[in-house]
Amino acid sequence: MNIAIITGASSGMGKEFAIQLAPMLKKTNELWLIARKKENLEDVVNSLKEMDIVPEIKVFPMDITEENKLNQFAQAMMILNPKISVLVNCAGVGTYGAFDKQSREETMEMVRLNVLALTQMTKICLPYMHKGSKIIQVASGSAFLPQPQFAVYAATKSYVYSFGRALAKELKPQGIVVTTVCPGPVETPFLEHAYGRYGELGKLKKMTMADTDKVVAQAIKDCKKKKEVSVYGLPMKLLYGLSRGVIR
Ligand SMILES: NC(=O)c1ccc[n+]([C@@H]2O[C@H](COP(=O)([O-])OP(=O)(O)OC[C@H]3O[C@@H](n4cnc5c(N)ncnc54)[C@H](OP(=O)(O)O)[C@@H]3O)[C@@H](O)[C@H]2O)c1
Repeated sequence: MNIAIITGASSGMGKEFAIQLAPMLKKTNELWLIARKKENLEDVVNSLKEMDIVPEIKVFPMDITEENKLNQFAQAMMILNPKISVLVNCAGVGTYGAFDKQSREETMEMVRLNVLALTQMTKICLPYMHKGSKIIQVASGSAFLPQPQFAVYAATKSYVYSFGRALAKELKPQGIVVTTVCPGPVETPFLEHAYGRYGELGKLKKMTMADTDKVVAQAIKDCKKKKEVSVYGLPMKLLYGLSRGVIR
């Protein structure tokens, strides 16, 4: 059985990945959508039902930061022994604010989800991937430079960026493509959660805000072209170039 997996599929970019990828997955039997909120996942399934798509959609409401849930997921994989065509690691969280003002729970939630869960999902799924399989790791433009007031979030996304690029090189001989996606601000519920408690989104971020569908379309296009990194829009491309010393 061929399956595709999207984490963080109940909202924002993960939901958009489901909507845009589902019609493309002609040889995939099942599309698995993972996030915590079952109702939101079911809403996504209902929107997908209205489309002409091949894969059966299955929802897995679970918190991927919980070790026992990941163990159950790994067990299910061992029993099913599927072929995984696509893995999109999109679940992520960010909390804006000075490190010394954030609670320990807020800080650790970012590390647990953005770093540990993403690594675990990749580790669990990789043995079932083969030539032509694709991994999309959703990082952020915050990965490019240290970001005061967003220190832990930016550091977690630097991890995703570094991990994704290295993995792309390691897996290239096996024909597995890894694309790391680095968006700037995107209009999703993420921003409300990230900035809600700590004030307004800055002017620059408002000016460079991108549409969810466009960022995701670019990511899928870049992955099909086997690009290691996907950066949407001129402002982020400039920041990426500057951070790498390409633009002086
Ligand atoms: N929006 C931006 O400005 C922006 C910019 C750059 C990068 N990103 C990155 O893009 C990715 C997607 O974010 P988004 O903007 O689409 O935000 P979003 O709408 O808030 O989506 C986050 C997703 O992660 C899921 N999630 C959160 N905690 C989870 C957990 N413990 N276990 C399983 N799933 C969990 C959420 O679903 P449940 O709540 O149902 O679990 C939701 O589906 C994140 O990695 C984020 O860091 C966002």
